[in-house]
Amino acid sequence: MSQSTFGKKFTVTTWGESHGKALGAVVDGVPAGLFLTEADIQAYLDRRKPGQSRYTTARKEGDEVEILSGVFEGQTTGTPISLIVRNKDQRSRDYGNIAKTYRPGHADFGFDSKYGFRDYRGGGRSSGRETIGRVAAGAIASKILKELGITLQAYTSSIGPISCHSYHPEMIKENSFYMPDMVAAEKAAQYLEQCMKAEDSAGGVIECRINGVPAGIGDPVFGKLDASFAQALMSIGAVKAVEIGDGVKVSTMKGSEDNDGFHMENGRIVKTTNHSGGILGGISDGGEILLRAHIKPTPSIAQPQQTVTTTGENISIEIKGRHDPVIVPRAVVVVESMAAITLVDAMFSNMSARMDYVKDFYL
Ligand SMILES: Cc1cc2nc3c(=O)[nH]c(=O)nc-3n(C[C@H](O)[C@H](O)[C@H](O)COP(=O)(O)O)c2cc1C
Repeated sequence: MSQSTFGKKFTVTTWGESHGKALGAVVDGVPAGLFLTEADIQAYLDRRKPGQSRYTTARKEGDEVEILSGVFEGQTTGTPISLIVRNKDQRSRDYGNIAKTYRPGHADFGFDSKYGFRDYRGGGRSSGRETIGRVAAGAIASKILKELGITLQAYTSSIGPISCHSYHPEMIKENSFYMPDMVAAEKAAQYLEQCMKAEDSAGGVIECRINGVPAGIGDPVFGKLDASFAQALMSIGAVKAVEIGDGVKVSTMKGSEDNDGFHMENGRIVKTTNHSGGILGGISDGGEILLRAHIKPTPSIAQPQQTVTTTGENISIEIKGRHDPVIVPRAVVVVESMAAITLVDAMFSNMSARMDYVKDFYL
């Protein structure tokens, strides 16, 4: 069983492998009449493309997207949108030695255990390249949200032990790590240099802020908005924990510290604080939605590691291919994209939540 489709009303199916001919996505449920060009999608893909700094893999990929269907004369037609990105720099021989070996921290052993067979070229379907389809689809979701006045901003909030201490959104594009704090970005560069010298890798945290979401989105109980975001972000390779609002800190807080008070402001109910991260009872509460994804250190490292071959021989492995010493910067736009896809799906589902909405539409 391959679960490659996410969403119910706005569905995204990703397909393709790291070293196959191409990767992409089929996006269904996009309303007709959205102005959409390849440039809209390319701008998102360029944020995750490899080879942009010395801290990302040296694999050279243009990652140019082509829209194969669902758009006519510059507008979506309401039919499935098929998106393709062709692989160009597939040096499979870089990965030849892993065909019969289980790389520590990778999906190799899991895939063999499940399917009895795996595409070992660059991790196949478990590769970070699978996220191309997510980002291409996320560009479309983000464009829909923008038309509704909803904006998403993801950024790196920490790399290894180096955390941001200030939030300057205009700085996010000014450093290789997409950090909103230039001092932290400089320290992160020094930290990564040490990791690279030691043939090691680092992890970190990505935050995503979503503004303009009306109160009332999310479907209790199994489609709670926080549960849907958690599933979406946890399905990204290397994400090991997801937090909403104050996240894991709540377990040590008091009720008086964690609760957000309400008050009236210009005839509207607003919250005094936002410990909830914009979601209460699985439903958006009108506050800024704050998501946090914790990313593990890149599993491929050049240091010798203990493992076994597929025939059960104990060996030492050194992974010399082209790998990101830290995954976080390239995953920033992936987190933002999955958040956008989740939110569009939840908002489209919400359109039939109340009889007055249905009457507004049909009567
Ligand atoms: C955008 C992105 C890029 C990645 N790049 C690499 C990489 O260059 N080298 C590597 O070893 N893992 C990379 N990964 C992580 C592996 O794909 C992932 O850790 C592995 O499949 C095991 O899955 P798990 O960590 O979710 O258990 C990347 C992940 C993402 C999301």
